[in-house]
Amino acid sequence: MLTQIRHFIKRNFKALLLLNFIALITVSQYSAPKPVIEQKSAPIRDTLGYLQHTHTFIHSAYYYPESKSLGKNAIAIVTTTNKRTVKQILKMKINLVASNDTGIINTAATVTTEHRLTDRCDYLMLLAQANTLENMNVLEIEADGITASIPFKKPKAVAPKPVMFCVAPQFAAEQWQTFLAQVHISKFYGAHLQMYVVSMVESYFQLLQEYEKLGYLSIEPWLTIKFSKVDEPVIEPNRNVELRAQTAAHTDCLLMYKEAATFIGFVDMDDLLIPVNSASYYEEFERDYNGNWLISSLHYTKYDFQTIKSPYLDETSILQMVKQAKYMNTTDSGKSFVRAERYNSTWAHWSRVADLVPQFFGESEEKPFLMTRREMNTTGMFHLKRQISKTGLQLANLGEGQIPLNPVNNKTTIISEENLQAIEDDLQRHLALPQIQKLAPYLPKEDFYMPIILKCYTDAFYHARDIGRFSQAAICINAYSCDIPQRHDYSCVHSDAMYHSGPRMDPITYHYTTDSYFTRSIGCYQ
Ligand SMILES: *[C@@H]1O[C@H](CO)[C@@H](O)[C@H](O)[C@H]1NC(C)=O
Ligand SMILES: *[C@@H]1O[C@H](CO)[C@@H](O)[C@H](O)[C@H]1NC(C)=O
Ligand SMILES: *[C@@H]1O[C@H](CO)[C@@H](O)[C@H](O)[C@H]1NC(C)=O
Ligand SMILES: *[C@@H]1O[C@H](CO)[C@@H](O)[C@H](O)[C@H]1NC(C)=O
Ligand SMILES: *[C@@H]1O[C@H](CO)[C@@H](O)[C@H](O)[C@H]1NC(C)=O
Repeated sequence: MLTQIRHFIKRNFKALLLLNFIALITVSQYSAPKPVIEQKSAPIRDTLGYLQHTHTFIHSAYYYPESKSLGKNAIAIVTTTNKRTVKQILKMKINLVASNDTGIINTAATVTTEHRLTDRCDYLMLLAQANTLENMNVLEIEADGITASIPFKKPKAVAPKPVMFCVAPQFAAEQWQTFLAQVHISKFYGAHLQMYVVSMVESYFQLLQEYEKLGYLSIEPWLTIKFSKVDEPVIEPNRNVELRAQTAAHTDCLLMYKEAATFIGFVDMDDLLIPVNSASYYEEFERDYNGNWLISSLHYTKYDFQTIKSPYLDETSILQMVKQAKYMNTTDSGKSFVRAERYNSTWAHWSRVADLVPQFFGESEEKPFLMTRREMNTTGMFHLKRQISKTGLQLANLGEGQIPLNPVNNKTTIISEENLQAIEDDLQRHLALPQIQKLAPYLPKEDFYMPIILKCYTDAFYHARDIGRFSQAAICINAYSCDIPQRHDYSCVHSDAMYHSGPRMDPITYHYTTDSYFTRSIGCYQ
């Protein structure tokens, strides 16, 4: 038997991990009973209006031995959960069983969501929070005596920079020019990018990896939600959650850097922020928070610009992109930049949970102060909404433009000539590096996926919005059903992982992943 196992391990290294995992479960089930330190079981089924048995996908679980804002031994679990499980989903408690080498503690985790319960989507990002015990080494979810063991990780102890920008998950991504603008502008003003990638054209992904090696960004695979084992038909989660669970990705990023970064921003790749009063984001944000305890986030409206881009790496110029940019006279919902300790979760534009959270500063106060986001009027997001492809020859004909005026005042420019030139010089230095030069022939020269996805999004919900017929109660903002044809001359990398299902539990069965990675065998899908 032992030799067989050894043989098996030699053949397949993954099996070793799995075996470890099984050993972990077995130990927790069969070792001598540990003293139960505390018992706080929560009723679920009857009191909250049981509706149906459902499935929850656990994106990540964090364990904070110490946290400035979450307390000692805090747990935060990011999930996508079917809101039609019990009638009062936000009153639901999730029983956690946490163990360390000497004891076990049962705790009821409370839940919050960033979504409105009236939205059309069946699934929500549900964040479960609790405090457990020191040196936790096993975390389980329990219901009616059945437990599922959940993998967890510690948040980052150090952040590469005090300002982190979490970039929304990229799928079928091909617009490397937008990335170059984002990475060089955010680097110049002192932010590190945390990139979530679902799928990306391979040469573009390699470009990202080169920038990762240089230390300007970190790449995290963002996984499609899958319930690997279910014994009944289920509502498809990816199709029935707002924007492919973008909220869960942003929240995961926030929780990962909560203790390590001072400020965290939540952006799309084409949302550029250029500080106007300081030389760095850090100083700008400190200045705008201005020591005020009631500001939850700094919220910048998106100002839509159209500009040009070059299909070739060697002709790419941020200076050109900025100088040819034209304000389209339209704005869009803004983006938030937050003090990490004041947010536990976030929606795409701000945290609905952190907005209007009561703050008590003294015992004598009768009415609390409400924490709210600050609407910024110094500048907005420089949103590269539309980019028209032009070659060097066509660019020459366009002539040199002017740096656009800041649309919040139409007086100052969005960036100084000097800073723009410094960013351009830095870009050109990087484009000349041999490891980046060698990717030039392989980067896509025209948009293929972008127009298809844009049309699909327009059909799915932008159209309804633009004619004023849009309501989140009527439409779940999601375009997972978009048919994305595959382009065979450019291969894509896609995220994947080992998917696991816990035992059937009531009312919710839990599903999770381990060992995530990127693969060339899936394609350019959402
Ligand atoms: C287990 O947790 C309890 C409660 O936090 C703590 O008192 C005890 O020291 C912990 N045991 C170990 C081995 O850390
Ligand atoms: C924006 O509006 C101004 C006048 O208010 C107009 O001159 C300009 O052409 C418009 N720009 C775009 C891109 O639509
Ligand atoms: C974050 O979680 C902690 C611990 O539960 C809580 O005290 C705090 O009020 C929460 N903050 C926000 C903004 O919800
Ligand atoms: C910008 O906001 C600040 C603080 O909210 C306010 O004092 C100021 O008058 C505003 N400026 C403009 C131009 O609206
Ligand atoms: C600035 O000009 C644009 C037109 O280009 C206009 O839409 C906007 O309202 C102006 N903003 C201010 C603050 O005057």
